[in-house]
Amino acid sequence: GRIAVLYGGTSAERVVSLNSGRAVIKALQEKGYDVLPLDTAEPFIEALNSGDVAQVFIALHGRGGEDGSIQGFLETLGLPYTGSGVAASALAMNKVVTKQIWAAHGLPTAPFELLSEDTDWTETLARLGGKVVVKPVLEGSSIGITIASTADTLQAGFHLARQYDAVVMAERFIAGPEYTMSILGQRALPVIRMQSAGEFYDYDAKYERDDTAYHLPSGLSDADETELQSLARQAFVALGCTGWGRIDAMRDADGRWYLLEANTVPGLTSHSLVPMAAKAAGLDFTALIEAILSGEGA
Ligand code: DAL
Ligand code: MG
Repeated sequence: GRIAVLYGGTSAERVVSLNSGRAVIKALQEKGYDVLPLDTAEPFIEALNSGDVAQVFIALHGRGGEDGSIQGFLETLGLPYTGSGVAASALAMNKVVTKQIWAAHGLPTAPFELLSEDTDWTETLARLGGKVVVKPVLEGSSIGITIASTADTLQAGFHLARQYDAVVMAERFIAGPEYTMSILGQRALPVIRMQSAGEFYDYDAKYERDDTAYHLPSGLSDADETELQSLARQAFVALGCTGWGRIDAMRDADGRWYLLEANTVPGLTSHSLVPMAAKAAGLDFTALIEAILSGEGA
């Protein structure tokens, strides 16, 4: 049967997904798979339901594609798909619920507060240590994020984030560096340390700029690398995630870890981290895509 690749979509991460999807489509076609590329911003349901689709590769990022919606739709159609199921996808998309679940499991994550029109900006800032990261709760790729260390910037950051989501959080700023752990079945791929030229690893640093440094090997001691991989595995399992994904974390100056978020459909673009980690583990891009398709360890 055919492999349908769902990509594009209508979320704020549409452009990233177009690039992920194109890379997946190309890799599968080169390997001789019968691929049905479907941009879900266009009518796609009839083609998907045509009867000759054997499996669906989800290369959608953000809302509608990574949040359980499309997963539930595929469950209803009875079509097998890559990655996490409905509930885990929905939980992982929500940064606040993710942090609450991790905290309940004793996993480290930075303190946060929800923001609203009624927030006392000065008090919130003080409670969270004087410097915060303002985030829409349901977004990806650092879209709508502001780093704030004044009441005015915090308030402006709230209004910016509100353009992306009704629920906005402020999290204590951890200076970093930032690390990411790619998960592929039962495999723990090598940790990557990111060093952006700007203040943090933002959208431009992720996809546009060429001056972001990716350290692989991460520079951590073997013991620290193993500890971080174990934390990431626990974080992934706590949310009920399966198949593949990526967990992001920060380390503060005292060497403490803080889990940031889980990505159930992490980027598969030429700049993306999971392909980079897979390559370091001896898996080229096509082998990675085939491993995701096979659902090993799911
Ligand atoms: N949200 C983007 C696609 C990532 O995590 O890679
Ligand atoms: Mg994300």
